[in-house]
Amino acid sequence: SSPQREVFVSRGAFIFAAIGSAVGLGNIWRFPYVTYENGGGAFIIPYLVALLTAGIPLLFFYYAMGHRSRGSAPLAHRMAHKGAEPIGWFATGVAIVIGIYYAAIIAWAGSYMFFSLTEAWGDDSEGFFFGEYLKMGDPGISLEFVPGVLIPIIIVWVVVLAILLMGVQNGIANFSKIFIPLLIILFLALVVRSLFLPGAAEGLNALFTPDFKELANPKVWIAAYGQIFFSLSIAFGIMITYASYLKKKTNLTGSGLVVGFSNSAFEILAGIGIFAALGFMATAQGVEVGDVATDGIGLAFVGFPTLISEMPGGGIFGFVFFACLVFAGLTSLISIIQVPIQALRDKFRVGNKASTAWIVGSMAVVSILLMPTITGLYALDTMDAFANNIGIVGSAILSIVVVGWAMRKLPIFSRHLNAVSSFRLGPIWMTLISITGVVLVYMLITQIITFVSDGYEGYPPLITGVYGWGMIGLLVVGSIVLTLIRWPKETIDEMEAAI
Ligand code: PHE
Ligand code: NA
Repeated sequence: SSPQREVFVSRGAFIFAAIGSAVGLGNIWRFPYVTYENGGGAFIIPYLVALLTAGIPLLFFYYAMGHRSRGSAPLAHRMAHKGAEPIGWFATGVAIVIGIYYAAIIAWAGSYMFFSLTEAWGDDSEGFFFGEYLKMGDPGISLEFVPGVLIPIIIVWVVVLAILLMGVQNGIANFSKIFIPLLIILFLALVVRSLFLPGAAEGLNALFTPDFKELANPKVWIAAYGQIFFSLSIAFGIMITYASYLKKKTNLTGSGLVVGFSNSAFEILAGIGIFAALGFMATAQGVEVGDVATDGIGLAFVGFPTLISEMPGGGIFGFVFFACLVFAGLTSLISIIQVPIQALRDKFRVGNKASTAWIVGSMAVVSILLMPTITGLYALDTMDAFANNIGIVGSAILSIVVVGWAMRKLPIFSRHLNAVSSFRLGPIWMTLISITGVVLVYMLITQIITFVSDGYEGYPPLITGVYGWGMIGLLVVGSIVLTLIRWPKETIDEMEAAI
């Protein structure tokens, strides 16, 4: 029989691991721009509403699911009802897809730490990134390799394997305990440095000047919910999995509040730092902040390199910035991969280490075959858009509707949480979860209509068909097939002992 279920030795270990998962690329490169685009200072209102009425309540919901069943995402859903198991596999599948491309972004950031030192991009950061580094080809499907990306991505997977083989406490929790404080210190240094750059105030004005009219626009509210979901790592099965490693008596809601507010604090800090830096860049180029503000890949790998070149001492600044992306990304990546590791272990009764080796090994193969190619960026971008806007939202809806509404588990979950926690939940919490379900259905429908009518980013149908719709379809079929396999007796026993 397989070894004991893993545990976090303390609540602090869990909180560090959960913050490690939450604080990621979304905080650094997504939040600042989403805020800027959606009403600036006024965005804080929908953002807080989404955090307090949807994000934190759902964190509690998933903590309860994982802690009560002591199971992976599929097992926790099966415990709610036999028919709910595919929902857990679907969330696990979304985690796998995200892990496959997230590793590539960390690999690029790793390369850019060193490119920063010599400003390898010269005076054309855009041409360097897309042309010289990624060697991008026409949008399509090709396995033509790009060695410059291949090597760092292999390193990322080796590091991930090493951490995860050390286990939940010694690997995940201890790694987060070292790298999250380090990340905070390094990032604070960057923010302080940015605030002293000429033009920083311009950037902060651009970010925070409120545009209250925007609050009447539904798109702004959707953006707030989307940001909160992605940022808190909700509905990927991560919170179920992590909560399942907690001791019986653990203050769950108290931990959730710490995690939720720490993540938001880091986001706001990142907003200040990034926009102060963008203000400097705009001033140096004699343009508006809006002309240099972008998000995601464009911000990190095109905008920031230009900024690094323009700034005195930019090489070190760049090195630290990309190191922050690497640390923030790695602690998130290990959390994503733990979801399928635990699911495999529960369903097939493989030992912890064997399960880790199988999952990391197979995800690494797909990631290494798909990402460092001349069409890797199209795959990455499409997988990201579909996994986040359809995958996560769909998975959250299914959990709320099936587990919360149809199986009426909300009162049971709130009783479970109240029995161990400091911050008590009641009818307000249940109502908030239900309202969130309705908001999410609206978001999902809007998104599907957009993808069906406009496609995605003008990519050819082959790309959206394979990496977008095809990927979602594969997850649905895979979820059903995996559900049909019988659970091993040891897992059932373990589960019954947990109730
Ligand atoms: N929460 C992370 C962020 O803000 C992203 C993430 C998504 C992490 C999914 C794990 C799983 O960047
Ligand atoms: Na986050």
